[in-house]
Amino acid sequence: MKEKLDRRTFLKRMTGMGVIVATSQLPVLAEDDPTVFPQRGRYERLALNYATVNIGLEKPFSILHISDTHFTAAYSHEDEKKQTLRIKRTKTFGGRQEEALRDSLAWAKTHVDYVVHTGDLIDWQSEANFDLVKKYFGEGMTGCLGNHEYSPSMWLSEVKAEGTEAYKDLSRKKLQSVYPFNIELQSQVVNGVNFVTLDDVYGYVTQSQVDLFKQEVRKGLPIVLCMHVPFHTENIWRVNVKFWKREAAKLSSAQVPDPTGDYRIQRQDPVTRDFIAYLKKEPLLKAILAGHLHFTMQDRFSPTAMEYVVGGNFLFHGEEILFV
Ligand SMILES: [Fe+2]
Repeated sequence: MKEKLDRRTFLKRMTGMGVIVATSQLPVLAEDDPTVFPQRGRYERLALNYATVNIGLEKPFSILHISDTHFTAAYSHEDEKKQTLRIKRTKTFGGRQEEALRDSLAWAKTHVDYVVHTGDLIDWQSEANFDLVKKYFGEGMTGCLGNHEYSPSMWLSEVKAEGTEAYKDLSRKKLQSVYPFNIELQSQVVNGVNFVTLDDVYGYVTQSQVDLFKQEVRKGLPIVLCMHVPFHTENIWRVNVKFWKREAAKLSSAQVPDPTGDYRIQRQDPVTRDFIAYLKKEPLLKAILAGHLHFTMQDRFSPTAMEYVVGGNFLFHGEEILFV
């Protein structure tokens, strides 16, 4: 007689047989759970956006751009704050972040030439999260930090000076030892295109970064600027304010909301404001890639460059960008 199993009994039995093995602090991978997307292929779980950047390359190629994976792991020996965050923040991000990144990178291996991750790979600092970074940040991949990389324990942190270079100083050394790129600014040339990644996690850039960027421009290659926080355009800002409103927010006016937070900093900080104005006139700039906002959107930044904001990788979002 054919036995009918309910989901719970089935999972219990599979676990007993050693078929389901939890490989990390994050919940069981959907690949091992036949009740998740049973009829879909392994890679059809990714929600991809597509864009094409026309440069006139002799050798066209494509990249996978992902951002905001927000790992929320902590080992059992880590302190109470990390345990609280693991429980609370795993609920926030759904608990499938490792699976999302793993599927994205597996897909990238056979579909694109390079991967760019624009920050918030971890949600806050923990040994377990740093180990996940080391595990997944491999060859054929570059990126930049996000604001969450700098956070020791989010709202539970003792130091509250978030948003400053002094605050970053507290964890700069540690982060530089974990992430395999120069966290201030990194150049990675792929098929003749210069991917320049930099840290703008609190909205601004520093004079030192501007000087380093101008050195990159002197190489004369087409540039793709990659960073965590987008350089806000009016359209991106309008959507950002609408998206993050907690209450109901049907669009009732075309007016651009007043700049606050990162956008205000970008309009007011002289170094950043001048850098943005300079970038708008730089013909070598071909695209800007950013994350942080958790929705996917693109808007024109300058006559030669579109800005591409990609949604959260924790939701299996990513975008393939074709350079032709
Ligand atoms: Fe962020």
